[in-house]
Amino acid sequence: MDEGTIKRTEDRHLAGVYQKMPPVVVRGQGVHLWDINGKRYIDCMGGYGVALVGHCHPRVVEAVKLQTERLMTCHGSLYNDVRAELAEMITSMTPKGLDMALLCNSGAEAVEAALKLARKRTGRKGFVAFTGSYHGKTLGALSVTWGQKYREPFGPLLQDIAFAKYGDIDDLQLKVTRDTAAVILEPIQGEAGIHLPPPDFLRQVRELCDSRGVMLIVDEIQTGLGRTGRLWASEHWNLKPDILCLAKGLGGGIPMGAILAAQDDMAVLKVGEHTSTFGGGPLACAASLATLNVIRSEKLWEQAERTGRFMLEGLRKLNGAHSCTREARGLGLMLALEMRFDIRDILFSAFERGVAILYSGKNVLRFLPPLIIKKEEVDEVLAILDELLAVEDSKRRG
Ligand SMILES: Cc1ncc(COP(=O)(O)O)c(C=O)c1O
Repeated sequence: MDEGTIKRTEDRHLAGVYQKMPPVVVRGQGVHLWDINGKRYIDCMGGYGVALVGHCHPRVVEAVKLQTERLMTCHGSLYNDVRAELAEMITSMTPKGLDMALLCNSGAEAVEAALKLARKRTGRKGFVAFTGSYHGKTLGALSVTWGQKYREPFGPLLQDIAFAKYGDIDDLQLKVTRDTAAVILEPIQGEAGIHLPPPDFLRQVRELCDSRGVMLIVDEIQTGLGRTGRLWASEHWNLKPDILCLAKGLGGGIPMGAILAAQDDMAVLKVGEHTSTFGGGPLACAASLATLNVIRSEKLWEQAERTGRFMLEGLRKLNGAHSCTREARGLGLMLALEMRFDIRDILFSAFERGVAILYSGKNVLRFLPPLIIKKEEVDEVLAILDELLAVEDSKRRG
């Protein structure tokens, strides 16, 4: 199919639920994507944060190839060698005490599992999430997601949900009741536009949860596995989750999600209470095992920290030099440049110039590049942005 036919066919036959960007992408390698015309893009979308180790990492490709030839599906009711290896690996990397995993296939599914585990463990029904939160779009995950435009058409959602103001411990104190099973949070809010918590906030949340017997679900689906310059974003604030949610980069590009919890907590889920046909399938486990091996052996979080600091400095310089920008912020390679206007034009122009960038809402450019991105590539992105911002400045001046 040619470019036009591909676009028309997708538009005609697939639900129109994605805000489409211009290219037809057909190939990826490392930090680069290629479109159907052979044009190359530096990928700062990173598959919405999935491509931590880069696209088609040779070790992940090799693991998937080998596993494809050996065994592609194996239900959780049968033991499996690769799944056992992954279980050992993942529980050795996650924060201490979280020594049991439940494997699933996506971020929203991980959040569903976390909500169910918290209800069963505490015998309570309620949840407190935060303003600006994003935890996915299945009905349970959507119930703890803030965005009205996502929620409103699909109600009624789960009852007994309250939203506390992100960063405001007094408000959280008011919202947590005797029926609260868990507080759920992202250590850094991603979809909301990359917002870091106030310095003491996460410690206070932990203390509040402990004092009220409430579980703390930490959603590291976007922040986890090195993205923010530490293996877990929670480490920046010494935060210990009761339930950790993972997905996105966990499968190196193959769908994979997980929750992790302490043995005592996970033990409340009994046979048949939360299963999934594909959860923990050998193909995803092999991909995940290879991905975690790469992240660990190459200490990718250290690269994210170094390159992220360099990129943030560059974005801050751009913010200082242009009147159309408002703020540069973020941690590691989870970065944002907030603009004073709708970013649609600049996003499309960036694609034209060979840079793929993500959006958060209408006015935030979000950068989630593979953690292997090099300083020279960051420089290229910054130079192109500089030119595009100058054009926007002059449009507004004129
Ligand atoms: C923090 C967070 N939680 C949950 C999700 C939902 O993940 P999925 O799209 O795999 O369902 C996302 C996706 O962007 C996310 O960023």
